[in-house]
Amino acid sequence: MNKKIIVTGGCGFIGSHTAVELQNKGYDVVLIDDLSNAYENTINRVFMITGIRPIFEKIDLKDEKETQHCFHKHRDAIGVIHFAAYKAVGESKTDPIKYYENNFKGLIHVLKAMQSNSISNIIFSSSATVYGLPEKLPIQEDLPTQRPFSPYGNTKKVGEEILEDVVKCGWLKAISLRYFNPIGAHESGNIGELPQGTPNNLMPYITQTAVGKLDQLQVFGDDYETKDGTAVRDYIHVVDLALAHVKALDYLLNNEDQTNLEIFNLGTGKGYTVMEVIKTFERVSGQELNYEIVERRDGDVPSLFANGDKASKILGWEVKRNLDDMIQDSWKWEQNNRNNN
Ligand code: UFG
Repeated sequence: MNKKIIVTGGCGFIGSHTAVELQNKGYDVVLIDDLSNAYENTINRVFMITGIRPIFEKIDLKDEKETQHCFHKHRDAIGVIHFAAYKAVGESKTDPIKYYENNFKGLIHVLKAMQSNSISNIIFSSSATVYGLPEKLPIQEDLPTQRPFSPYGNTKKVGEEILEDVVKCGWLKAISLRYFNPIGAHESGNIGELPQGTPNNLMPYITQTAVGKLDQLQVFGDDYETKDGTAVRDYIHVVDLALAHVKALDYLLNNEDQTNLEIFNLGTGKGYTVMEVIKTFERVSGQELNYEIVERRDGDVPSLFANGDKASKILGWEVKRNLDDMIQDSWKWEQNNRNNN
């Protein structure tokens, strides 16, 4: 049976880990990436882990012609996992047009190319940011979405709405996966997160501070109503997240009569404060971390954690890796990849 899957943004952090798990399950993987925030060498690293070299297509999805051409070439694909998007929250506020242009053009061109080539299954990479400032915790999928605090977040919310409308037309089946806070790396140390420039997210900031690339971590706010005053997030190991994509794909391919966009939260259901993450890092790595407490960061919510029951019940997905595993693997990755990509 043909098991070809197109993975857009396939050289990125979550895309590359998902490529590995797809290959482990016997899928043939075509990775599309414009390499704007990723490295081609990721293909070699996926090969080092799985022994299988994925097909690579360097395509900018903003270019409709190139996208159509690429999808036509791979029109035997049975599904698409669409990761390709810009994702820096802060940059999206200073340059919203860049984000709306890239993330919407990418999604629309992918959908048009799928329609022209009769590819009818898509998994969309979404975010817990679509819940805005949630009124209830833990967050269940039926909690109404809100206007996210950033243009980046809004591209995820509107992206889901676009998919909802297209699914209703009958030719497309779609799942949206709302990620909480993905961290960690492949346990081999071969693939992980490689932020360009100064990282925005907590985990790469911590590991880069610990190896001396950055001077000091700033903890954004210690006056939230949480157990130690620092903000709470639901951190999830990127390999558990990748495995959820494989489960979601199996479900989508076997579910012939889907009529609505299906949505799943991907989190562990456990929240940790920034200080708990720092203390766990110090224990796991044996390194003391240089940090200071500063003002809250604009747009941050105090607490965000998932109720992940739907994904475990319907997809049969289980979280297997805890915070120690996540930090151990992030740390191993940072140490392995200090000077190269
Ligand atoms: N934090 C710091 N110092 C830093 C970086 C982060 O204290 O240098 C804190 C933040 O204030 C927050 C927590 O660490 O409390 C996690 O911050 P991240 O930037 O790692 O993650 P966010 O929860 O802000 O962002 C994540 C995803 C976004 C998504 C957002 C909303 O990275 O893509 O969740 O759900 F939009």
